[in-house]
Amino acid sequence: MDKTQPVGIFDSGLGGLTVATHLYKEMPQESTIYVADQSRVPYGPLPKETVARYVIEICDFLVDQGVKAIVIACNTATAAGLETAQREIKVPVIGVIKPGSRMAARTTRNKRVAVLATEGTTKSQAYPNEIKSLLPGAEVFGQACPRFTELVEGGMKDPKEIDAAVAGYLKNIENAGYDTLVFGCTHYPLLKDYIEARTPAGVEFVNPAVETVEDLKKVLAGKDLLNDSGVSTRVYYTSGNTATFREIASMIIGLTPAQAQAMDIRRVDWKIS
Ligand code: DGL
Repeated sequence: MDKTQPVGIFDSGLGGLTVATHLYKEMPQESTIYVADQSRVPYGPLPKETVARYVIEICDFLVDQGVKAIVIACNTATAAGLETAQREIKVPVIGVIKPGSRMAARTTRNKRVAVLATEGTTKSQAYPNEIKSLLPGAEVFGQACPRFTELVEGGMKDPKEIDAAVAGYLKNIENAGYDTLVFGCTHYPLLKDYIEARTPAGVEFVNPAVETVEDLKKVLAGKDLLNDSGVSTRVYYTSGNTATFREIASMIIGLTPAQAQAMDIRRVDWKIS
């Protein structure tokens, strides 16, 4: 393994860019390959076994591209496929749920935590299990927000529609008394302003991306694999439409039109199965 090899990052779509952005900021020296599986987004409603299969397929693709580690920048994919990937893939694979749970357990003062996530992640109970093991007696309120992924993938064009969706979901947990809210889906930090506006004052927000990137740093440092060559590249793959990816991704990452034009975006075809 060579220090200059890239780090692979993937998500069902654009949400993982919230993790990538954090990685770019904290570890700018690392080269990255980002995969957005947009031909099959959303993963949220899919059976666990299907998502686990996609995880292995994308990890295999990233290993073929020569990555030295992989970040599953998707909670649904982490819940469904992290364990299998860590068993079967020959490079370190890092998920977002354990780091996010650690942050939540550290943040809450009243042991009441809300987790907004997809149906798949919510059903898996991965967050409650993890948070309660770290913080016995904690209460975790899971709320599935399937519309959020669609709204982000669509480019977050209609503020009224977003606000209505946010209001609807948060109403279900309005009496839960939580003091900490976890973005349990990597798409959701992109709706933070809307979510914050509908959340009781004083609630702390947890973005698992922060500690996930710390975990990556530790894993790479432990294997003496931090890139110190001074040269880094960013490559993006989508299984969907490259023009749409360019338009919305460059907005999320905050690129100028010229930088957006220069993004290295390639198309990958997964067998639709
Ligand atoms: N961004 C993903 C997550 O963190 C999933 C969204 C979806 O594909 O449903 O769970």
